[in-house]
Amino acid sequence: MSASPAPWAGPLPLRGGRSLPGRLWLAALTNQQSPEGGHLSADERGFLLRRAAGGMPVITTCAAYVHPDGQAWPGQLGVASDSQGEALRPLATGLAEAGAAGLVQLFHGGGRADSALTGQPTWSLSSWSDKATSGVVEAAPADRLDRVIVDQAAAARRVEAAGLAGVELHGAHGYLLSQGLSRVYNTRDDAWGGDLAGRARLLRESLRAVRAATGPGFVVGVRLSPEDMGQARGLDLDESLQVAAWLAEDGADFIHLSLWDCKKPTQKRPESHPLPLFRAAVGPEVALIAAGDLWTVEDVAATFAHGADAVAVGRAAIGQADWAAKILGGAPVHRAPFSPAALAENGASETFVRYLSRFRGLVSA
Ligand SMILES: Cc1cc2nc3c(=O)[nH]c(=O)nc-3n(C[C@H](O)[C@H](O)[C@H](O)COP(=O)(O)O)c2cc1C
Repeated sequence: MSASPAPWAGPLPLRGGRSLPGRLWLAALTNQQSPEGGHLSADERGFLLRRAAGGMPVITTCAAYVHPDGQAWPGQLGVASDSQGEALRPLATGLAEAGAAGLVQLFHGGGRADSALTGQPTWSLSSWSDKATSGVVEAAPADRLDRVIVDQAAAARRVEAAGLAGVELHGAHGYLLSQGLSRVYNTRDDAWGGDLAGRARLLRESLRAVRAATGPGFVVGVRLSPEDMGQARGLDLDESLQVAAWLAEDGADFIHLSLWDCKKPTQKRPESHPLPLFRAAVGPEVALIAAGDLWTVEDVAATFAHGADAVAVGRAAIGQADWAAKILGGAPVHRAPFSPAALAENGASETFVRYLSRFRGLVSA
């Protein structure tokens, strides 16, 4: 008798008859390789396709700005114009040839957009300024918030037209949608702020608009930071659970929890792992994806045992293009640090390696 397949092998069924071809995902990875007007470059496409060829069934692009005033770093991918959308088409073709599916991470930097790059004022739900922002952040008028919802819907339509499988709304890490949820960054007292219903409005309306703008086969999910971490501030676990429950009602196919360390319990309730809590919040229909410090097959197994439907990895797959094949085949994996030569062999351009050097412990001297 043959052993039953591992829970991370095989496709991922989603609600509404939608599906994705697998449960090992490449997480969104900013790489600053789209210097030409935010059009997906050959370097970035090559990096992503190498991961698909290496057995990764679901490939997420880096955070891609949905409007030019949301760009947060140089060389960022954009999906704010039809020509930027068209530049995604060869990626979709290549992924399909490899049997993989692609998601674009829809992004707006909000108060962390870089006005030196955008040439436009930096704005968010409220006015604030801190170390992470280069200057003053303006409080957006309500019609700007309406506009950014339309921007996300238009971006999702471009992703669909290019032939990719879906989008992930970037509601994590303290960028615009996460700023909206935050008690610290969102101090508005109108319908876009105040209580949790007000603070969740921008994210919920964005999801509903993206869902309404795209076809029934198009996958739409949301990445969340469940609790404060780094620039994600003003978040509360119980509020995040309520937000996830609302997003499930609003039609999310998946909630992607950016955990930074999938082994850790929640900060607020040290006796609880986040996955069972989010499962109770979203019900059985919505897929739960978890990311954070996953390297080995044991790490993956433990995260599935907590209730993940899929896992997303960043660093492990930066250092080895065939990480997914290794996990599926039970082969040993390499861990960081990775030498610049190994990174180059695995499809990271010089620009990307330079960017990766900023991350502690990732690139060896
Ligand atoms: C170089 C690099 C770029 C990243 N860019 C993004 C991004 O564009 N969007 C995002 O949501 N997270 C981003 N992250 C976070 C990763 O998606 C992931 O959640 C994190 O690295 C933890 O997973 P890991 O331990 O498997 O690397 C980035 C991480 C790294 C190392």
